[in-house]
Amino acid sequence: MIPSAAPSAIHRVFNFSAGPAVLPEDVLLEARENLLSLGKSGIGILEISHRSKEFEAILAEAEANLRTLLGIPKDMVVLFLQGGASLQFSMVPMNLLCPGDTADYVVTGEWGKRAVVEAKRIEQAQIHIAASSENEAFRRVPTDGELQLSARPAYVHYTTNNTIFGTQFHRVPDVGSRPLVADMSSDFLSRPVDIGRFSVVYAGAQKNAGPAGVTMVLLRPEVLRLSAVQAERLPMLLNYRTHIEHKSLYNTPPVFAIYITHLVLRWLVRNGGLPAMAQHNQTKADLIYRAIDAAPGFYRGHAQPDSRSQMNITFRLPTPALEDEFAKQAKVQGLDGLKGHRSVGGLRASVYNAFPLAGAETLCQFMAEFARQHG
Ligand SMILES: Cc1ncc(COP(=O)(O)O)c(C=O)c1O
Repeated sequence: MIPSAAPSAIHRVFNFSAGPAVLPEDVLLEARENLLSLGKSGIGILEISHRSKEFEAILAEAEANLRTLLGIPKDMVVLFLQGGASLQFSMVPMNLLCPGDTADYVVTGEWGKRAVVEAKRIEQAQIHIAASSENEAFRRVPTDGELQLSARPAYVHYTTNNTIFGTQFHRVPDVGSRPLVADMSSDFLSRPVDIGRFSVVYAGAQKNAGPAGVTMVLLRPEVLRLSAVQAERLPMLLNYRTHIEHKSLYNTPPVFAIYITHLVLRWLVRNGGLPAMAQHNQTKADLIYRAIDAAPGFYRGHAQPDSRSQMNITFRLPTPALEDEFAKQAKVQGLDGLKGHRSVGGLRASVYNAFPLAGAETLCQFMAEFARQHG
């Protein structure tokens, strides 16, 4: 059983935000204590040096817990970087593409499109779209049979969960021996994954793993094929080798964001790890999809059923005015953050790891009542 709330006396609502998103309350309470003094150091976590032994211990434990939770193979390095997942849209092609290379992209949403835009900036590289669901309003992810992969791309890039459209891959695509790169920002640590199948994984922390400000990158150094001369031309901070060599401490890292992520990783370990999270997430998502399907003339799920995301549940009402009314009334009842992404509208319930089951149940009751009143 995943704890839904710690005994905080402060008023808190059910936060359905897509990110930054809800964090476990006992993580927030522990962080509050450590604002004034990290352990017995007498120095608060916002004030402590990234070269202190206290912070080095935090970084080491965070990496160790991440490795255990995901079963990260020994030959993969773990980096804690800045710049968000968006910077990885650039760093991946900058570091992985040699002149004349091709990279394949599977485009299943807005973030995948942005990754393509950045990759196309790399001179002398070909960007090949192996599949796109854009002409179906990104309602689904492609099957393996639909992927038109190049013969020998430097890598195949895809987005495991599409935060805006509410679709998710429920399998790792079969790309043969081609190196696989995944943007896992919005379902990282939400379920067990066969990490061994990937060459690079990156994820901004601000959904399942922590606050905004740190991005985790898991990488097999063998994919860094640039020659020394080519790598030298990269700005130091945009070169993975810099961060590998300096173990994420080349410059000042986002100390506080890493600290909170470290507490979330401990919380995950304490609460049954990723198998328990997968079950908890499925229970919540099933409840909400059932509420959508129970009023088919009123609620319309955006994603095709076999591509439905367990993290971001997107749905429409008969009119935009009703959607506004839904979000407004829900907020009054303590259900916040339900408006869809500004680019697509509609409604979206994001139910990441730390989101409590009670919140999903309350939303379902609200949905049934709202449909009764307005349907
Ligand atoms: C799947 C995915 N990729 C990338 C991003 C961009 O992340 P950031 O804002 O950390 O750059 C987001 C943000 O929501 C996302 O959901």
